[in-house]
Amino acid sequence: MTNRQIHLIQESWERMKPVSRSLIARFYQDLFDEAPEYREMFKEDLAVQSAKMAAMLQFIVGKLSRFEDILYDIRALGESHQGYRLDQAAYDITGRCLLQSMAETIPEYWDSETEQAWLLAYNEIVAAMHVPMKS
Ligand code: HEM
Repeated sequence: MTNRQIHLIQESWERMKPVSRSLIARFYQDLFDEAPEYREMFKEDLAVQSAKMAAMLQFIVGKLSRFEDILYDIRALGESHQGYRLDQAAYDITGRCLLQSMAETIPEYWDSETEQAWLLAYNEIVAAMHVPMKS
């Protein structure tokens, strides 16, 4: 990722952070509307999961310029997801819903360059989640 892309992600995240609860709520709503079959994988009450997701985004965004430092954490996240038997389509839908809810949360700030930067970051995270821990 370029410095500019990292900057765009961090700047846009600063704008989303104060409303990250509603952002994540919107994200899960979108995801379960598009793919209702994923709903049963999650607990009935999404509050804890939503807080974890927001914290993970915060953590990753803060470390984007030193991505190699958090590879271990991302791989561990990937390992925790192995049991869910997710395919690429699951990650694609999830990424689309996440970016869509971001766009709807800060429409006045969101543009195609910001979207491209987030898409790249998301794909890098997913790729790192798929790297086995013991490699
Ligand atoms: C970059 C993509 C993703 C990120 C950053 C992410 C993040 C997280 C985090 C932080 C947790 C809680 C901690 C943990 O279990 O390790 C979690 C749990 C979980 N994730 Fe993900 N996730 C991603 C993709 C997905 C996808 C594509 C699915 C399926 C559609 C999914 C399904 C789940 C489930 C079922 C849980 C456990 C929920 C529960 O215990 O109720 N995740 N995820």
